[in-house]
Amino acid sequence: MRIILLGAPGVGKGTQARLLCEHHRIPQISTGDMLREAVRDGGELGRRAAGFMNRGELVPDEVIVGLVSERIAADDCRRGFLFDGFPRTLAQARALEWKRVAIDAVVEIVVSDEEIIRRLGGRRTHPASGRAYHIEYNPPKVEGVDDLTGEPLVQRDDDRPGVIARRLETYHEQTAPLVGHYRDIADQGCLRYLAVDGAGDIRQVGQRILEQLA
Ligand code: AP5
Repeated sequence: MRIILLGAPGVGKGTQARLLCEHHRIPQISTGDMLREAVRDGGELGRRAAGFMNRGELVPDEVIVGLVSERIAADDCRRGFLFDGFPRTLAQARALEWKRVAIDAVVEIVVSDEEIIRRLGGRRTHPASGRAYHIEYNPPKVEGVDDLTGEPLVQRDDDRPGVIARRLETYHEQTAPLVGHYRDIADQGCLRYLAVDGAGDIRQVGQRILEQLA
């Protein structure tokens, strides 16, 4: 199974990606997590990406397409994979098509901008794994630390109010056109397009996605 999870920042892509990948036993390919790892490593790619990320803008397509192409060539992707946060522009989607990477389903998670602002404002993240918590909706067992490792949770640099607003604008300008793009491809019978309501608690949303994908 090859799945694309589509949706604005903070709709719950990363949270649902983990549940779906566990269920289908496929790897989660999060371009956001890959870029944050590159920033932590401090190399050329990370230095280049950090400025875009901290401003709430997209990292250039050629960088992302290169990262993803390398990742999906790995052995663990043979049985499928889930893209979390990729593609994010029409150029990225077309690069996949050009490389003949067939996709089975695009799952769009839909949440209002007001709810997104609440979700991102309260998010706390475990940097090494990308696990996300929410101080109110999905708190860790012990305040401020990751459930599995006991390591400290942090607030992402791009979860500050000004940057959240810019990320939402970027989504509406550059990523939302993918909705029409993939709906058209679905109309031609080449993949399934599912728009799933992301309101409600994490388990309910997960159940909704699994039912629609079944
Ligand atoms: P990325 O890391 O992909 O960020 P994003 O798309 O902005 O998505 P988020 O990780 O912020 O949110 P999410 O939808 O995963 O929500 P989550 O599950 O954490 O990208 C970061 C940056 O990298 C981009 O801005 C860009 O610069 C760059 N980048 C990445 N990919 C790129 C690409 N392809 N091209 C170019 N640039 C790229 O949930 C959010 C919060 O809500 C959490 O606190 C969670 O606990 C909570 N929550 C989740 N579900 C629920 C629920 N049902 N009810 C209540 N709370 C919930």
